[in-house]
Amino acid sequence: MDNPKNKFNFWFDIQHNFSLEMLAFFFQRVTGILLVFYLFLHLFVIGTAATIGKEAFDKLMEFFEKPPFPYLEFLLLVGVLYHLLNGIRIVLVDFFAMSKAQKDILWVIAVIGVVVGIISLYMFLPKFQGI
Ligand code: HEM
Repeated sequence: MDNPKNKFNFWFDIQHNFSLEMLAFFFQRVTGILLVFYLFLHLFVIGTAATIGKEAFDKLMEFFEKPPFPYLEFLLLVGVLYHLLNGIRIVLVDFFAMSKAQKDILWVIAVIGVVVGIISLYMFLPKFQGI
């Protein structure tokens, strides 16, 4: 943090004023940055459709249906779900002055996240089995 060479350390500094909400915000940044990487990768892969032709693109899509991709897809879902729900929490706390209720909001979004996560996992099971 104090090293002037590491200008971006403060982005991931969770030691100062550590709390559960601070940790939740830390993962908001981590998932946000991973989503940016995924977005570019996704645009690149979909963009190949314009150059490699229909048959080759369909083959590529079939390749992505085989392991480990369904597992990675589920991880993406977990990351997006986390970022979306925690993002709503941050917006409520920051823009609607709900900071007093922030612990309660955190628990509500955690429950919603776990329920949606379990339903999604159930829906992903056929994909994991290659069906
Ligand atoms: C699904 C809807 C989304 C919601 C509700 C949402 C909400 C938020 C919120 C509230 C923050 C914290 C901002 C702050 O206080 O500094 C944030 C951070 C961030 N989000 Fe999202 N976001 C969403 C989708 C996305 C997507 C699709 C991407 C990338 C493609 C993304 C990338 C980021 C990044 C990189 C950060 C970190 C920025 C920082 O820490 O200053 N977000 N998001």
